Amino acid sequence: LAPGAFIRRPGAPLTVFAHRGASSAAPENTLLSDEVARRAGADWIENDVQPSRDGVPYVLHDDTVNRTTNGAGRIRDLTSAQLDGLDAGSWFAPATAGARVPSLAAQLDDLRTRGGSLLLEIKGPHTRDEVARIVKDVRDHGMTGRVLVQSFEVDALRHTRELAPDLPLALLRADLDADPVAVARDLGLSAYNPADAALAARPGVIEALHAAGVAVNVWTVDTAARWKALDAAGVDGVITNRPAELAGWLSAR
Ligand code: G3P
Ligand code: CA
Repeated sequence: LAPGAFIRRPGAPLTVFAHRGASSAAPENTLLSDEVARRAGADWIENDVQPSRDGVPYVLHDDTVNRTTNGAGRIRDLTSAQLDGLDAGSWFAPATAGARVPSLAAQLDDLRTRGGSLLLEIKGPHTRDEVARIVKDVRDHGMTGRVLVQSFEVDALRHTRELAPDLPLALLRADLDADPVAVARDLGLSAYNPADAALAARPGVIEALHAAGVAVNVWTVDTAARWKALDAAGVDGVITNRPAELAGWLSAR
């Protein structure tokens, strides 16, 4: 993997990562929110992946389906047949009723057909076999060159590195490591993705990571004031719930 591949070139705009799709405008982590994000001009869709009871990776943020579907229970206790039967749209608005919890395979199919790249978050601890299934789905869909794998879970990133040395990795952090560059080198990261507040508290870290060939993508940032500050600070990408507004702000400058 080329060092610096995800670092913004001089004069290039921030990369827009649509957080859980266009989650301010459509039900999060559905093909509908992906489509809204794509139409808004988002370069990348961010989503969260976890396995069903029968080991199929699905796109869902919470560890239960309670908040974002008409069902109940932990995703890891529900079969793929049960997940396929859920409505993931009515909680958001009557007009979005009928949206489904997509399997990762369905989402990769959709992206491959309609365009766009995937910031794929491995959500929560995963065994090596569970990561292997995610890698297999990405490979089977020919999407290796259009996926950036991210996680808060260091073990999940290490499994991914072993199973797929060609997949780029990003580490999510709510607080910065004492030495982010050392961590990035140890894990072989292409990007280091910190929370906005954590980054603001540590001047100089963007430059240090860039010097090591590591991009910096910041989450979750929804105001023009922060987009402007992060753009000026030299970050590479912004993960936002409002991709249409960020894309509009970028093109209006
Ligand atoms: O992409 C960053 C962000 O998604 C991490 O937090 O809880 O929304 O998955 P969360
Ligand atoms: Ca996420």
